[in-house]
Amino acid sequence: MAGKWEEIDHYARQWIEEAGRRIRASFTEQLTVETKESRNDLVTNVDRGIEQFLAEQIRRQFPGHHLLGEEGFGDELAVLDGIVWVIDPIDGTMNFVHQQRHFAVSIGIFEDGIGQLGYVYDVVFGELYSAQKGRGLFFNGKPLDRLQPVAVAESVIAVNATWLMENRRLDHRPLVRLAKAARGTRSYGSAALELAYVAAGRLDAYISPRLSPWDFAGGMILIQEAGGIVTNLDGKPLDLLSRNSVLAAKPGVHEEILQRYLQH
Ligand code: IPD
Ligand code: CA
Ligand code: CA
Repeated sequence: MAGKWEEIDHYARQWIEEAGRRIRASFTEQLTVETKESRNDLVTNVDRGIEQFLAEQIRRQFPGHHLLGEEGFGDELAVLDGIVWVIDPIDGTMNFVHQQRHFAVSIGIFEDGIGQLGYVYDVVFGELYSAQKGRGLFFNGKPLDRLQPVAVAESVIAVNATWLMENRRLDHRPLVRLAKAARGTRSYGSAALELAYVAAGRLDAYISPRLSPWDFAGGMILIQEAGGIVTNLDGKPLDLLSRNSVLAAKPGVHEEILQRYLQH
């Protein structure tokens, strides 16, 4: 008989694929776009529909599991006891609305706060990044190499342009120095995809001053399984019950960024 995590993995994949089919089908339908906390914080009927679909499947199949989700179909959790699914039905909603590409379904599944299964699914490209604790990282079912150390000077670093100019969340000057020292910078507009790219070695680091648990839960598990490092900008572990700053990177460059650019 398959183990507990194999069973959960089986269903998670099935539901992610179905979510992908539904999202692709929505491209030909009328989209309802609303704003949330700010005029640039978008949500659509599809974000809500997909989270509702995933929540219903999880509750029916695994009634003892808990759920943290962006769009309100999850639980209010004060602790991370037991099995917790952390879900972003569409990460990169602005890209979804404006570009119909460069967004992902992201799921991280934790037991007592330890990441066990991670998925980031690029719905349009049909690219599934997945990981199970202790088994490494997979791209569309194929194992990927473990990440090797790299220096800032040879790194491509993902950072949103917002954080390279004066802003209310952090001192932009160290990040400007970092951007100048790096080989190049990129910004894709989906934290989940940017984390998956770090896990797959396409990016060397990703930096954000403020992400919610559903933005980073899936990608964090991918990176840890690939041999990368995920912390906040102080080098501390991420807290799944609140917003966090995030520094996700290959070994070597993670330490270099922390020590030479972020520590005061
Ligand atoms: C957003 C994306 C974006 C990040 C934002 C997130 P959403 O998620 O991950 O890249 O910079 O902070 O809120 O709203 O598209 O799910
Ligand atoms: Ca998100
Ligand atoms: Ca979202």
